[in-house]
Amino acid sequence: THPQTVEINGNKYTTDPWFNVSSTVLSLTSRKLHLQKDHPVAITRKIVESVFPPPTYRYYNDFDPVVSTYENFDSLGFPPDHPGRARSDTYYINKDTLLRTHTSAHEAELFRAGASGGFLISGDVYRRDEVDRSHYPVFHQMEGARVWDRNTVPNGDLAAAVLQDLDRLPKHNMTVEDPSPPSHPDRNPLQAEHHTPEEAAAVAAHLKRSLELMVNEIFSRAKAAATAAAGAKNGTTTTTTAAERTEPLRVRWVEASFPFTSPSWELEVFYQGDWLEVLGCGVSKHELHAHASGPSRMGWAFGIGLERIAMLLFRIPDIRLFWSRDVRFLSQFRGVEDDLARLRPFVPFSKYPACYRDVSFWLRGASAAGGGGGAGAGKAAADWHGNDLMEVVRDAAGDCVEDVRLVDEFVHPATGRRSMCYRINYRSLEKTLTNAEANEMHGRVTRALVERLGVEVR
Ligand code: PHE
Repeated sequence: THPQTVEINGNKYTTDPWFNVSSTVLSLTSRKLHLQKDHPVAITRKIVESVFPPPTYRYYNDFDPVVSTYENFDSLGFPPDHPGRARSDTYYINKDTLLRTHTSAHEAELFRAGASGGFLISGDVYRRDEVDRSHYPVFHQMEGARVWDRNTVPNGDLAAAVLQDLDRLPKHNMTVEDPSPPSHPDRNPLQAEHHTPEEAAAVAAHLKRSLELMVNEIFSRAKAAATAAAGAKNGTTTTTTAAERTEPLRVRWVEASFPFTSPSWELEVFYQGDWLEVLGCGVSKHELHAHASGPSRMGWAFGIGLERIAMLLFRIPDIRLFWSRDVRFLSQFRGVEDDLARLRPFVPFSKYPACYRDVSFWLRGASAAGGGGGAGAGKAAADWHGNDLMEVVRDAAGDCVEDVRLVDEFVHPATGRRSMCYRINYRSLEKTLTNAEANEMHGRVTRALVERLGVEVR
């Protein structure tokens, strides 16, 4: 029940039974929000780029999102059984071809090609995921990397060269609450055969300072925007609070773990009462450089979610808005890309009422071979995955779904069958949905769940 071939950005691909890309997601592969003039994702990309200037850093913004399984996973050392490879999490065109789940998919290729220095890659990335205000199956990432080579630094002293580069970076006066959390050797060993402790420490320090400068730049711009908005007397109501205009930015480093970096960290920013993860990073693994370029090289890499940063920068409350073609959204950013002083917090247009509808159904019982009547092709409880439902809902009702939550689940004591109840919040960003429209949409969703997942509606 899937197409034989699909065309993405002008290239044709032959599908196989691994194919699992919905038509909604396919239609988003051509949008490239990070390249659209004055789009908040593109503006955010530009601001990040300004912190990593040429000629040290080179920019790559139009790599195709269709990559091989090898590039996305194997080239980075993901083990064969890594959960990220599952069809429930990743969009496959066929067994060997997928929609990249991160911009790291291009690291090895650029390391192989590259001289010493650095690069930034921005692009759309794809993940099957839940549905809520901060998750969308397509978003944008920016990858950054920096490389040094023992063969080209003075006296072969890589640590000294990195520290000298660090010295040339600007300083900032932001408070970093946990500047160097301990790394646990089981999760993040020193790559002791390849890196001296001094080299690893110097690269890590350069990485952290670079990224602190990046968030500092974003938040200085956000604060200036909030202040300008508050000062605009005859404007409409301001959406910023005094605290946001005056409170110092709080950030902290936490230990993380990625297959292609060691040690690894995430950077978290304190925002509206919570610590928010904004990026992952680390000292690149030796194997990645050794396979790609040469054993004398080492450096760092990071990956940032651009929507996450843009939501903070512009105070955009719902990730679906980025995909809106509504002028009430797009017009608010006009002229900002060329003149960042015009950046202002987003002013939400009226929020339309939520419309909740529940759907309850039975999964095929594990014991009832072939299912209790019906098509018999339904999902057995064992291979039920919530992301499959999210995908069907998204496809049937599009961006009118704000979020989907599992509200009840039980196993019938006599039949052993499992029942699930999901609550779907239908809320358009653009108008008030009538009851009839919500019912119509919910009907479509329910039929799609029966047809595509084989569940039995209760
Ligand atoms: N690619 C990682 C992610 O998407 C982020 C990352 C990039 C981590 C580069 C380390 C180095 O989660």
